This record gives sequence, structure tokens and C-alpha cells, in this order.
Amino acid sequence: MWGTATSSFQIEGSNDIDGKIESVWDEFCDRPNTIKNSDNAKIACDHYNRFNQDFDFLDELGVNSYRFSISWPRIVKDDLKRKNQKGLDFYSRIIDNLLSRNIEPFLTLNHWDVPLIFHEKGGWGNRDCIEHFLDYSSIVTKEFGDKVKYWITHNEPWVIANLGYNNGTHAPGSSNFYKSLEVSHNLLLSHGKAIPIIKSNSNQSSVGIVLNLSPGMPASKSSEDLKATKLFNQYFNEWYLCPLYGKNYPKDITADWVQKGLINSIDFNKEGDLEIISRQTDFLGINYYSRAIIRSEEIPEEENLPIELVAGDKTDFEWEVYPDGLRDLLIDVDQKYNPGSIFVTENGCAYDYPKEDGAINDIRRVKYLDSHIMACKEAVQKGVCLDGYMHWSLLDNFEWAEGYSKKFGLVHIDFDTQERTPKQSFWAYKNLIEKNLK
Ligand code: FCB
Repeated sequence: MWGTATSSFQIEGSNDIDGKIESVWDEFCDRPNTIKNSDNAKIACDHYNRFNQDFDFLDELGVNSYRFSISWPRIVKDDLKRKNQKGLDFYSRIIDNLLSRNIEPFLTLNHWDVPLIFHEKGGWGNRDCIEHFLDYSSIVTKEFGDKVKYWITHNEPWVIANLGYNNGTHAPGSSNFYKSLEVSHNLLLSHGKAIPIIKSNSNQSSVGIVLNLSPGMPASKSSEDLKATKLFNQYFNEWYLCPLYGKNYPKDITADWVQKGLINSIDFNKEGDLEIISRQTDFLGINYYSRAIIRSEEIPEEENLPIELVAGDKTDFEWEVYPDGLRDLLIDVDQKYNPGSIFVTENGCAYDYPKEDGAINDIRRVKYLDSHIMACKEAVQKGVCLDGYMHWSLLDNFEWAEGYSKKFGLVHIDFDTQERTPKQSFWAYKNLIEKNLK
């Protein structure tokens, strides 16, 4: 399958109409010094009103799938129980529109913009609040269960837990390391608990979760760098992969946190939880942007071995362009965890190009796209069960704490006029899809 990916908060705008309640991200944007240039997503790409025009671009691209998310605050009233029909109607129009174009919807239930009131009740940090997520999942899957086949519970639990609750750069902006781990656990637990609900409301469903994975690689062969890399991989990747695929949380990193006095234990992991978390899924979504080159901070730089691994070209986000990392990651995950089916649910790059004579010649994005799709092809040739690729993103959009300063779109948006212009990469992707669907 070929597709593009977006998320509700980043593109929709219209953040206070048709009964939508406040989202944690609405509140976070209103706080001073949270978002670059004090940007907010009140209008964003105005996708709420322009989705039909945006889906014309999907047709033109020739994709057969589209990943988007539902804004939970549009779906429920402030008791988090009663449904808001107008919000459901909006997504009904979205889904019908996609289906009329023969585009398979991939629906993400949680791409971060949860109701503020959910957070105020304790949100992801409170195990009891999982019930609210299940109520919401139940409403949505009952409503769309016969139309939508591909369901994603959460997008990137690491980002929610770490950026939202540890370093505070994302909503809700808290900084408490133990709490952030508890959040990651509750997210995984709620994923497992949602699976049977989705399955019972959507007969033909294929259910998965999306993880942001980044393979860590040591900067040198020193034992310190090797150790730091192992710990990085356990924290960033295995902390999620292991419990989802029937193993326990990784031990070295947990012991390291205890030894450093960051936590006493992971007592939020109660008996029976791991069985729920590891309930069978139908696919794994992988978001890949880059690898991480790891240098130990435990010893002074001059006592470590010289750096052998140097980062290559970087995007505007300072993320290294490293397509081989995607190939190796796909092979590694497939072999170690055997998820049965994998989708690259996000992959993309931030580059800003000016419009010249009406065109946007974003050649570095064209190169990025080509090389990463080639990496996918190599993984498939090695036998990886890769079933689809979705580029992040269809449109330039609201890039969370970075506001509108980072441009990931295949389609350029002028945020003053809302004018849309497909970039060179859009046409390149179209060609690629055309060749590969033949
Ligand atoms: C991912 C997010 C997505 C977007 C890209 C650039 O972490 O899932 O919403 O912001 O990064």
C-alpha cells in the first residue's frame, strides 16, 4: 500500500466549533513560551473546511491508503461519555470521501490531542482514566466499524511519555520521570484493552499500534559508548517493543534508573498487565525519521575513544538523513519480534524551499523519498513483511512545539492565504507510486 499520513490537530483548525471541547494541545499552545513564534493550531491548514480539496491531492498522487487521526475532543461531551454527533459527522464525511475515491482509511485513535478534561482527571498518568479512552474507542469503532478496516490505537507512546511528561516540551508539559514511565505503561495497557473492543465493533478489522523507532548506534567501539547505546535502545525502542511482543520491560535500563536514583521500581506494572499489553495485533506501524548516534556522557570526551561514526547530511530538524537505518530496522524488528505485518506509518523530512516561478523544487525531499523507499524495497527483498509506506506528510502543517517553522509536506501551504501548491516531491512520489502499482 502507498499512502500519506497526517494528524487531526496538526491540520484541521476549527478548534472550537461543532461541539468540540478543549484539547490539551489547545491549552498548551495558549501558554507562553511553549510553541515557537507563539504559533497555534486554531486555523492550521483549515482542513476541517478544505478536506475535499486536500483529498483531490490524494487522488492525483495515486495513493491507495491515507493515515489520519480522530480528534478525541470532537467526539465526546465534557463528561467524556456522551457522544458529540457533530464531531462524528465530520469524520463520517472524511471516511466516506476517502472510500468514494477507493482510498483505504488508516484511522489513529490517539495522535496526542486528548481532551483537556481527561488530562485534568489524571489522564495518561492515572490508570483509572484508561476507561475514558476505552469509552471513546468504543464510540468511534461502533460508528465506523463497518467502514474502516485499519485501526491504530496510539501514535508514538515514547513521544507522549517522554516529551509530554518528562522534558515537558509537549502537552501537557510536565516533568516527572517516574510519571513519564507510568504514562508509557498506561498507554500500552490501554492499547491492549482497546483491542477486543475494536475487534468486536469492527468485524474485518486489522489493529495495530504505531511506534517511533530509531536505532541507536555507538559513536565509537569504546565499552562506554557500547553501554550507552544499549541503554538508549532499551529506553527508546525496546521499552515498547518488548512488552508488546510478550517479553518483559528491558532489565538493564530499569536497573540503571534505579541505580541513578531516578526511580525506586516500576511498581506500576501490575500482575497481569503484560498479558494484556501483549495481546495479538495484526500489524505494527513504524515511524522512522533517523538513527541516533550515541556517545557516552559518563566519562569525559577525551577519555573516550575517538568518534568513528559521524552523522551525514541533516534536515532542518537536525535529524540525520540515514536511509540504511530504515532497511536495517525493518529487518531487525521483523526478525526479533515477528509482528506478522509492518507498515511504515511515517517517514519524511523537514525542508523549507521558497516558491520560485510558482514551483517548489524541493530536491532534497525528492532524494530523501527515493532513498527511503529504496531502503524499504531492500528490506522486502530480504523477506520483511512490509505491507505499506506512508509519507509524512501530505501537507505542510503545525509541527507541535516547532509551530509552522518545520515543513514536512508534499504539498506546500501558504498559511496566510491557505493556497496549496504541490511540490516537486509530490510529482516524484506520484511517479514512484505509478511505477510500483503497475
Ligand atoms: C512524529 C509525529 C508527527 C510529526 C512528525 C514530524 O513524531 O508523529 O505528528 O510531528 O513526527
